[in-house]
Amino acid sequence: MENMASPDVCIRKVTEQEVHDAWLIGSLSFPSDETASEERCKFRQREAPDLFWGYYESGKLISITHGTRTLKNELTHESMYTNDPEGTVVCVHSLCTHPEHRGKGVATALMKHLIQHVRDNLVNVTKICLLCHDFLVAFYESVGFQCLGLSQVTFGQMPWYNMVCNIQTDK
Ligand SMILES: CC(C)(COP(=O)(O)OP(=O)(O)OC[C@H]1O[C@@H](n2cnc3c(N)ncnc32)[C@H](O)[C@@H]1OP(=O)(O)O)[C@@H](O)C(=O)NCCC(=O)NCCS
Repeated sequence: MENMASPDVCIRKVTEQEVHDAWLIGSLSFPSDETASEERCKFRQREAPDLFWGYYESGKLISITHGTRTLKNELTHESMYTNDPEGTVVCVHSLCTHPEHRGKGVATALMKHLIQHVRDNLVNVTKICLLCHDFLVAFYESVGFQCLGLSQVTFGQMPWYNMVCNIQTDK
C-alpha cells in the first residue's frame, strides 16, 4: 500500500471484495454503452489484479483504473475481455473518479502511479495503450501519453483516439 501526502489517502490494488464498489464508480461515470459490466470488472480483477488500482480517501474508494495485457501491438476490442499474462502491451480500459471528487488531481495521481508501477514491476511490458475521446487527449498527454490518432475500435457513440505511453526498457 502506498501512502500519499495526506495520511487519509492511499493508492493500492482493488481487492475482489471491492470490485462491486469499483464497478459502481464506473457506472456513475460512463454512458451505459461505454461502461464495463460488473462481470467484466470481476474478470479483470481476477486475471490482472496488478492492473486494477484504486485511490482511497479515508478508506473510501473514489477513483479506479483497470486493464489487461495483450501480445498484440495495440489495444484491440478483444483485449477488453481477454488477458495474456505474458503480454508486452498493457491496455487500460477504464479510468474514472466518483463525480463528487473530480477536479482535484485524483485521476492524475492514479494514472501516474499505474505508469510507475508498470515501469518498476512489469518486466517485458513496452508500452501502455488506452482509448479516449478527443476532449481527454490533452489530459492523457499531461501524464505522459502521446496521441496516435483515431482508433479502429468502435463502441459507444463517439470516435476513440489511440493513446500510448512508452515504457523505458532499461529496467
Ligand atoms: C476524466 C476523469 C477520470 C478525470 O478525473 P479527475 O479525478 O477529475 O482528474 P484530475 O483532477 O486529475 O484531472 C482533471 C482533468 O481532466 C480533464 N478533464 C476531465 N473532464 C474533462 C472534460 N469533460 N473535458 C475536458 N477535459 C476534461 C481536465 O484536464 C481536468 O483538468 P482541470 O480540472 O484542471 O480542468 C473524470 O472526469 C471521469 O471520471 N470522467 C468520466 C469517465 C471518463 O471519461 N474517463 C476517461 C475514460 S478515457
